[in-house]
Amino acid sequence: MQKLIVQGGAPLSGEISVQTAKNAALPIIAACILTDEPIIIENCPQLKDIDAMLNIMRHLGCSAEFIGDNLHVCCRDVSLNVINADLTGKLRSSIFILGSILSRCRKAYISHPGGCEIGLRPIDLHISGLKGLSVKIEDEGGVICCDGGDMKSAVINLDFASVGATENLMMAGALLDGETVIVNAAREPEIVDLAGFINEMGGKVSGAGGSIIRVTGVKKLHGCTYRPMPDRICAGTFLAACAASGGCVTVKNVVPEHLFGITERLKKTGAKLSVRGGTVRITASGRPKAIHKLETNVYPAFPTDMQPQFCAMLSRAMGSSVIVENLFENRFGYTTELVKMGANITVKDRIAVVAGVPRLHGATVKACDLRGGAALVIAALSAEGCTEIYGTEHIDRGYEKIEQSFAALGARIERVQS
Ligand code: UD1
Repeated sequence: MQKLIVQGGAPLSGEISVQTAKNAALPIIAACILTDEPIIIENCPQLKDIDAMLNIMRHLGCSAEFIGDNLHVCCRDVSLNVINADLTGKLRSSIFILGSILSRCRKAYISHPGGCEIGLRPIDLHISGLKGLSVKIEDEGGVICCDGGDMKSAVINLDFASVGATENLMMAGALLDGETVIVNAAREPEIVDLAGFINEMGGKVSGAGGSIIRVTGVKKLHGCTYRPMPDRICAGTFLAACAASGGCVTVKNVVPEHLFGITERLKKTGAKLSVRGGTVRITASGRPKAIHKLETNVYPAFPTDMQPQFCAMLSRAMGSSVIVENLFENRFGYTTELVKMGANITVKDRIAVVAGVPRLHGATVKACDLRGGAALVIAALSAEGCTEIYGTEHIDRGYEKIEQSFAALGARIERVQS
């Protein structure tokens, strides 16, 4: 077992380049099944979630290996093996591989991905969307059995702009005759990136980034080399950490427009932000100001994946902040750990009231989910004294060697075997 040991209290300073986006790379890896030709994904992040997806790909007969920072994937032959619970349990977003397997093989078998720490995360939109493309779907003892023998393109109206369901349907439509139209599609930048990748393979996807996406099926897709977008949530995590601890940090390799929902809220804390090309610089000192109301919602609003990190930062704010979580019903679990560090947070259903305290203190805490884990790191960096953070395996799902990133910014943080 590993833990992070953080000596808090030092301001952050320096430059950091963000990794490639996990949430862009995952669907792009799944989409490699759409072609029997080799694909190179440049600068692919090396993370636990990526490993979990690659294990699913290998289980289906694809080859996948890192050569340096580049991931080489080839799905020359795809076997219709059941993707069992051992594999899906490690990665809830495994469900969106259904669309690409169906597109390529017209059949797919996958165990139900189950719940997760931050909420129920049902898959009804994925299932109803695929049924809308005439896929027959039955649940046989927890295995979702899909028969796409009669699959055809259609207009699919999503009841909610789900990221994963939109991605699933884009992949499902890529090789179908005719035009698949996704109405009320998710508009996240990762959707635009997936469209870019499918188009790079010779597909025809238009409208991504807007709420109507059109996928015109093509007969065959070909191999390509693709570099996914930078990780906007990692970038936001470094910026929020600086707003919490003070200092001056330049975050490089970002698309500043992707960060708008985050940077606008950071300005409310009194931090100074400046954008230049693909970099964002933040300068902060003293305690942050509270944010009267911080509400998560779909892009371009404030992202749910930044909610815990902001909560950690606002724990030391001057005044009280109200955080409303609109996407996941159980995403405040980490706050009990922040309270152990002296934070004053009251949670009721989807609302957290954060009464800022002058100082947090070190404690022994445990990460129970990815972004909640990042929140604990931010709190520890701005706390007085030493914090030990267990549950590093959750943090490693989405951050490449988080301790090295923060150490490069002057933080006193190390990973040890416990
Ligand atoms: C993706 C991101 C995740 C992020 C989330 C919201 C990846 C790998 N993960 O997750 O980090 O937090 O977007 O920005 O890209 N829902 C249903 N039925 C469904 C599908 C979703 O009710 O069939 C609900 C979910 O329970 C949740 C909301 O819709 O309340 C948002 O989910 P969705 O947009 O699908 O998120 P994911 O694709 O799972």
